[in-house]
Amino acid sequence: MCGIVGCIGVSNAKEVLLNGLSRLEYRGYDSAGVALVNNGDVIINKCQGKVGQLADSVKNVANTSTTGIGHTRWATHGVPSDVNAHPHQGHNKRFSLVHNGIIENHAALRERLEDQGINFTSQTDSEVLVCLIESIAAMSAVSGEEAVRLALNEVVGAYAIVVLDSEDPDQLVVARKSSPLVIGVSKDAYYVASDATPIVAYTKEVIYLEDNHMAVLAASKPPVIFSIDKATPKPPYIENLEMDLQSLEKAGYEHFMLKEIHEQPTSIADSLRGRLSGERALIKLGGIEQYENRMASARRIIIVACGTSWHAGLVAEYAFEQLAGISVEVEYASEFRYRQPIITSDDVVVAISQSGETADTLAALELAKSAGALVIGVCNVVGSSIARFTDAGVYTHAGPEISVASTKAFTAQVTVLTAMALRLAQINDHIKKDVVSQIRDQLLEIPGFVEQILKNTTQYEAIAKDLRDVRDVLYIGRGLSFPVALEGALKLKEISYIHAEGYAAGEMKHGPIALIDTDTPTIIIAPGDRHKDKTLSNLQEIKARQGRVLVVTNQADTSLKQQADWLIEVPPTHEVLTPLLTCIPIQLLAYYIARQKGCEIDQPRNLAKSVTVE
Ligand code: G6P
Repeated sequence: MCGIVGCIGVSNAKEVLLNGLSRLEYRGYDSAGVALVNNGDVIINKCQGKVGQLADSVKNVANTSTTGIGHTRWATHGVPSDVNAHPHQGHNKRFSLVHNGIIENHAALRERLEDQGINFTSQTDSEVLVCLIESIAAMSAVSGEEAVRLALNEVVGAYAIVVLDSEDPDQLVVARKSSPLVIGVSKDAYYVASDATPIVAYTKEVIYLEDNHMAVLAASKPPVIFSIDKATPKPPYIENLEMDLQSLEKAGYEHFMLKEIHEQPTSIADSLRGRLSGERALIKLGGIEQYENRMASARRIIIVACGTSWHAGLVAEYAFEQLAGISVEVEYASEFRYRQPIITSDDVVVAISQSGETADTLAALELAKSAGALVIGVCNVVGSSIARFTDAGVYTHAGPEISVASTKAFTAQVTVLTAMALRLAQINDHIKKDVVSQIRDQLLEIPGFVEQILKNTTQYEAIAKDLRDVRDVLYIGRGLSFPVALEGALKLKEISYIHAEGYAAGEMKHGPIALIDTDTPTIIIAPGDRHKDKTLSNLQEIKARQGRVLVVTNQADTSLKQQADWLIEVPPTHEVLTPLLTCIPIQLLAYYIARQKGCEIDQPRNLAKSVTVE
């Protein structure tokens, strides 16, 4: 959470920072700020609100700076306000800093610094860090970067920081621990950001700064990289960025979310490219090839994830158990890591994460690795912390997802995990080979089916009109449709602020049915699988209580047509693949309801996309 940027040696630092911050706004958008070096002076502009407001407030600031740092905030310590916005400066205004993460021992450090007579202007933990740097620099005859390093050695917590030293404005000092930081390298300039999206417009050469490392960047000089604890030097490793600028634009769509929903035929196909071939009966997941036998013979697979990725994990649980006969547990990473779980070296732990940066998921993996388990990643962002930490993994290749509410990342995760289950099924011989082939072939048809669903979106406007003013919505489903129900409820509450609950259909009678009345509609995910009849009994129970029902199905018979208040049909496919199709209408529904309510779809209130706090 929070986005940080920095640049040095560029022709117009203000523009680079503002463009970069708008790319990173998905990480937080309650306040923003920049510090620019002008004739050796560091000038700070910051305000509560979005990057657009910051851009207005710096309209008249000269475009002459070549160096600067910037920040877009998701508040942790202290309310969103001008004062709490970054950059923060030390008490003598020598150092300016932008920070993403949390300084856990900020209270003790603050007390110590207050005893030294330092007064703080903000409530943030970040100001404590910059004052600590400044206090160390004032008390010992060390360079600015050494003061940063010494301060970081006293800090407990997570951080990615960029620091400007007004006594040495020709360099930036950057550091990271458990929060991401990418350095863009071009001939005479450096760019720094929380992810590569602000960098790709300027250079494709990047250094993914390793955890617990820092770097000193001076224009036209090679980067100096070293470890935070012992200042051990590390040679820079420059990688090539595989990202194009176009994928970061709305491409004519009103919102990134709608664009990303409509990208799914392509993103699902991309997630299968080179991995599945109908002709050669091939399922090849290069990233895990070396470990697939160990995965196939695992005592159990534990999936750790958060949010939408956790829902993809629940779909994978059915696929792994049903197809490959491997026992699976799906855990909220945030619970797993604190529960003292029993993990052995026979376990395989699979982390699913779009961003590859979710703090709880990373911490769960660290725990699993320390217990000797094989750790596998299913990530979207190339070079992300989780992708780098895992023993092996598979990228989902969905392309950059900008909307906070996840859509195409979810379908790419489900696609890749289904392919993985099929591959393990081939190795395990758990189901007949021709069934594996049949599902594999049908998986290849999914992009075309998604395209069909997306061609006809007219009915969603009308349904959204009927539903936009409700207070609560229930989503139910059985088997593989249960995670889809959970995902549907999450999508709706995230972007429309309507209270929504996802339930296993069989649990209706144990509580949720008490909520049914004419005002609380139920969305039933009921494809024509072995659960359909049972789920439709729930429909009868809801109708008997005057509840209104929307059914998403791939098998609409006459009785269903008569009973459902609204009916959405998707093409038929193999049972195990139905989530990839039934999830599309629930994404569209959430989108159109939120749109009719006039909500801020891509940046819903209080949320952020990359959750690097615990
Ligand atoms: C946030 C996002 C969700 C996402 C979750 C997990 O809550 O808003 O869309 O599912 O984090 O993120 P990850 O990047 O690990 O998939």
